[in-house]
Amino acid sequence: MAIAEPFRNHGCDFFVKFIEIFLSMNITFIGTGYVGLVSGIMLSYFGHNVTCLDTDKTKISKLKQGLLPIHEPGLEQYLAICTKEGRLNFADAYSQELQNSSAIFITVGTPSSPSGEADLKYVFEAIDNVSKWASVGCLIIIKSTVPLGTCNLIREYLETKNYKFHIAANPEFLREGCAVEDFLHPDRIIIGTNDEQSRKLLEEIYWSLTSQNVPLVNTDVSTAELIKYGSNAFLAIKIAFINEMANLCEKSGADIKKLSQGIGLDSRIGQKFLKAGPGFGGSCFPKDILALSHIAKKYQSVCRVLDAAIEANGERASDMVKKISEAIGGNLHDKNLAILGLAFKAGTDDVRSSSAIEIIKILQSQGANITAYDPVAITNALMLLPELQYANSAMNACNNADAVVIITEWPEFEQLDIDRLHAIMKSPTIIDLRNILNPEVVIQKGFKYYCIGGYMSALAKS
Ligand code: UGA
Repeated sequence: MAIAEPFRNHGCDFFVKFIEIFLSMNITFIGTGYVGLVSGIMLSYFGHNVTCLDTDKTKISKLKQGLLPIHEPGLEQYLAICTKEGRLNFADAYSQELQNSSAIFITVGTPSSPSGEADLKYVFEAIDNVSKWASVGCLIIIKSTVPLGTCNLIREYLETKNYKFHIAANPEFLREGCAVEDFLHPDRIIIGTNDEQSRKLLEEIYWSLTSQNVPLVNTDVSTAELIKYGSNAFLAIKIAFINEMANLCEKSGADIKKLSQGIGLDSRIGQKFLKAGPGFGGSCFPKDILALSHIAKKYQSVCRVLDAAIEANGERASDMVKKISEAIGGNLHDKNLAILGLAFKAGTDDVRSSSAIEIIKILQSQGANITAYDPVAITNALMLLPELQYANSAMNACNNADAVVIITEWPEFEQLDIDRLHAIMKSPTIIDLRNILNPEVVIQKGFKYYCIGGYMSALAKS
């Protein structure tokens, strides 16, 4: 697809070609993490000439060979199309090539510093490097999640060095595992600028989407920065809330699945992000809600719900371990546990701040013997837990287990051969921390079944 795709179906070939040539732009992305790589490849697919730059030479060398350094469904196909059409390039060093870019997206990481604030060292490193090569008047777009005030800070920093660039904030809302779909069908595009020229340029970059009526929110840079944190924090709070409701359901005998459905059908609330589970993880929610809490404190603005959600989620892993321990009789020492799922959610190989990793660490500290399996995340898990025993299939992990603990909602775990599982386990106990199995079926097959916030937990105990 190219920029003017919406018109292609109407037989306006000449017009399409004209728009493509007219709006196609030279764009560089600095940083090839999830956001940079997906956005870079997809903007190239929309017809722009994109260069993805990363100083990690191994990553860039792989990308040049058509190999993705991340697991992201669908992305490989777009990488191949854009490379073949000659609109996508990769670079492993800053160079004068940057002079040709009208827009440079900064998509480097903003990890939590020890205090919980976002660490901006990679952003400023990128700005320093870009400013050495980019042309005067070029638009630098901050796509990394940065605290309120960062774009203005960058502008002031560049002004002290006499560099003349425009700065914009354009936060991203891609979810790992469905980032391509999210890019093609966003709920909205946020454009934060403090000048008309930058706003127009960003609107042209996203023309393929805005021409299909994707809502556009034009605002100032600071509000755009805060929209990103506000969105992630709100969703994290929603999950923390439903997890606490799950605790209440367990104690009162109510059913969390029906509760989520009943609450979520109210269109003002919505059904998404109301699945109770082992706690929110990943490289975004835990980091961003913490950073927003710091921002609020910095401005002496009281935001109690943020801190409550941080605290509730912080206790989730140890609550899950308590649940597992109770399910197998109260003592984890020398118990064989099969852990199914290491990624922080299904559809990704990312294990950063994954509940599975946190839970495994506590289980190990209490003497449990663990064998873990994940369809795609073992390589990454090995870096965090090199001593852990890994299996090459779910069934192999469950062999001779006292209990199976499902932590990531991979579809293949829903399809487990329950009869075979029953035959190979030492004791048929399933602790389903994602509520993906059918309780009636597994209980009827003779398993002790424990889930999150369900009446079935109570039923299994009785
Ligand atoms: C999140 C946001 O959803 C994206 O919009 C945003 O762009 C991204 O962060 C980012 O800031 O870069 P992501 O971290 O990929 O995306 O994952 P989510 O799908 O949002 O899930 C986050 C965590 O919440 C996972 O651990 C997931 O298992 C958990 N979750 C999600 C639940 O426990 N219950 C739910 O109902 C939904």
